[in-house]
Amino acid sequence: MARRRIIAGNWKMNKTPSEAKELVALLAPLVKNDDVDVVYCVPAIDIVPVAEAVAGTNVMVGAENMYIEDKGAFTGEISPDMLVDAGVKFVIIGHSERREYFKEDDTFLNKKVLKAFEKGLTPILCCGETLEQREAGVTLDWIRLQIKSDLQGVSAEQAASMVIAYEPIWAIGTGRTATSEQAEEVCKAIRELICEIYDEATAEAIRIQYGGSMNAGNAAELLSMPNIDGGLIGGASLKADFAQIVNA
Ligand code: 13P
Repeated sequence: MARRRIIAGNWKMNKTPSEAKELVALLAPLVKNDDVDVVYCVPAIDIVPVAEAVAGTNVMVGAENMYIEDKGAFTGEISPDMLVDAGVKFVIIGHSERREYFKEDDTFLNKKVLKAFEKGLTPILCCGETLEQREAGVTLDWIRLQIKSDLQGVSAEQAASMVIAYEPIWAIGTGRTATSEQAEEVCKAIRELICEIYDEATAEAIRIQYGGSMNAGNAAELLSMPNIDGGLIGGASLKADFAQIVNA
């Protein structure tokens, strides 16, 4: 069975609640598309207004982060139950910005992945190499290490339902996109790794996105590759271009 495509916006730390409502209203008529899953991953404070604004449409809401505990004295954190109660379906885990600026390591990210599944949230697990790693020829080793570590204890059934986003760090916010061949090479290797860890059926089911300077101009070519099932979009998700990617 063909994998359903999934285009997700990662708004990062942009858009106040009022601006978020304006953006959703701008995009609403443009992103109507029954053939693809459309997700807005938004800052925590925007989740409630965005969930209200997309109710009854084809758009689903995602979070950019969550904590690993159910509740308690964790000042400033957001629990998975809070996300679920607010209508969130997806959660980005392990974005390179969280790995770098907030020092989230694979042991911690593995706990997040397991917690997301426990609560019925679908993880969008991010992985990706630095430019130095690519130039040193260790990209595939690095990606394998990240994914293997982050998926410890995840069942085949869970893995089949999740999303992995390959985001080369050198392509994020730089305007320098990976070529479709470079992106396909890594996404194919990720699928092969999933087959190795689990089985063929899981590898066929899991959805793999590319992220990194994806835009209205390059989306169609990237999305035409056999192992790229969607995109995780930063900058271009904050404007009407996002709809062109959805419809690409
Ligand atoms: P850009 O699309 O702005 O390069 O960001 C990609 C990204 O980090 C999505 O998670």
